[in-house]
Amino acid sequence: MSTIYVNELTGADEPSATGSKESPFKTPAYALFISPDAKLFTFKESTEEGVAADYVEISASALKKAKKGAESLKKKEEKNKKLAEDASAKEAEETAKMIEAMKIVIVEDKSLPPANKIKIRSIGDNIDSRVKVQGWIHRLRIQKGLAFVVLRDGTGYVQCVLSGDLANAYQTLNLTIETTLSIWGTIKKLPEGKSAPGGVELIVDYYEVVGLAPAGKDSFTNKIQEGTDPSILMDQRHLALRGETLSAVMKVRATLLGAVRRVYSELSVTEVTPPCMVQTQVEGGSTLFKMDYYGEEAFLTQSSQLYLETCLPALGDVYCIQESFRAEKSHTRRHLSEYTHIEAELAFLSFDELLTHIETVITKTIQYVLNDPIAGPLIKQLNPGFVAPQFPFKRMEYIHALDWLNENGIPNEEGEAFKFGDDIAEAAERKMTDTIGVPILLTRFPVEIKSFYMQKCKDDPRVTESVDVLMPTVGEITGGSMRISDKEELLEGFAREGIDAKAYYWFIDQRTYGTCPHGGYGLGTERILAWLCNRFTVRDCSLYPRFTGRCKP
Ligand code: 4AD
Repeated sequence: MSTIYVNELTGADEPSATGSKESPFKTPAYALFISPDAKLFTFKESTEEGVAADYVEISASALKKAKKGAESLKKKEEKNKKLAEDASAKEAEETAKMIEAMKIVIVEDKSLPPANKIKIRSIGDNIDSRVKVQGWIHRLRIQKGLAFVVLRDGTGYVQCVLSGDLANAYQTLNLTIETTLSIWGTIKKLPEGKSAPGGVELIVDYYEVVGLAPAGKDSFTNKIQEGTDPSILMDQRHLALRGETLSAVMKVRATLLGAVRRVYSELSVTEVTPPCMVQTQVEGGSTLFKMDYYGEEAFLTQSSQLYLETCLPALGDVYCIQESFRAEKSHTRRHLSEYTHIEAELAFLSFDELLTHIETVITKTIQYVLNDPIAGPLIKQLNPGFVAPQFPFKRMEYIHALDWLNENGIPNEEGEAFKFGDDIAEAAERKMTDTIGVPILLTRFPVEIKSFYMQKCKDDPRVTESVDVLMPTVGEITGGSMRISDKEELLEGFAREGIDAKAYYWFIDQRTYGTCPHGGYGLGTERILAWLCNRFTVRDCSLYPRFTGRCKP
């Protein structure tokens, strides 16, 4: 029987230790694991004065404990060995499978009927036909002898089924999410009980890889995951856009812009494209983005309104869909630094006619979007409870809104009861709109809290012929007004706001060379979308949102 030494202070439980006095083990369990029949000596500090510390034979109880420990170390070793064996068997199996897979050559069967190249949108019109589709792998499932690829091409999704050699081939086993493919196959209606997008699947007879996306640490799913930090998602916006929700909102957005153009065309309102680089302000100097324009000070436009006004005598009623820029300091869920502004300007009309026009444009546009074969179903998916706004909207004067807020215990920004002249800030406005639960045309705001160009009401010069359209869940989506048509009164407005009127000569001339009663409004595209698609913030409704601290990618 060998003698083995254990020293908990200086020993080591590793193959380099020998168990000698010079090279002891650290624990008795390890010592017995290495040498089961050994006689163990453990190092003990002496308790008696003058007696040196030394090795003593292990006690019976410590020995019992050590035997148990050694047994569990043995079990652990056996388990690890088994795992290693299994892993290497699996690896061998994988290698064999890959070698087999590499032998498979995928070729197109030229005896098949020629394929019609289609977009996924029209799969339903091509049942039982041989087609070619091209797109990105949205989802991928590979199992024994079968591979399911959900292909996305921006117009829709289709489930593609690969079987036999196609499923077992090396290139199939190495497919990754977001790889681009060209696929040939026959579209089949799904049998009862099976489900896939559009109720059809593509039975693949041949396919080619166009661009293989990375696997492993650079894989798409590693970059974009559910629950990823929003700022990382913003950095990866170009990839996040490929997701089902964001891409759906962008499709609704496209339809919305198309629908609003259709409505304006029906109302004989002409589209114009005013400049974005300007040297005048519209909505207050504090939110202007300044820029150097060949050595002169210029700004990014806050609104195209002033330019639209100048178009009235030339083109009649006009509109534009243009980016507006606001250096908003506040981080709110409904403010962007750049947004798509739908603005219209109409001549020879009354305030009441302006309100009716706004309701018409909103209700008709929304109806067209809901009736659209692409956007309609997407809105159902994104916002199942959406109720189309009914014409006419509820109308409410600012002064009555104050009464409503006070009666409902909603305080102003100072935490006090609302009084005439107070701004109805975002939170209070949203509470009121959400409680009332229907679109509201909020009218007749005080002169002091509205812009310099707004026409005063004839029956009460303290207030203006102004309107905000408020929608449940987002609040204000539209701001508009009748414009001051009298030159002198307009100049007073400039003076009141401390704006030098000189730079506005072209805008003032609109009052000099044949003035007319006129009015207009601006609709925030992203705010309408947030309401329509039930998004928490306008950031989810813009392609590449710009807000404080974010100007990339
Ligand atoms: O109420 P606003 O500031 O009105 C104007 O700019 C007028 N000159 C428009 C006009 O009469 N032609 O803005 C109009 C709309 C708001 O109701 C809101 O929907 C949107 O533009 N909006 C914003 N959207 C996103 N981010 C911002 N920072 C926005 N500021 C205004």
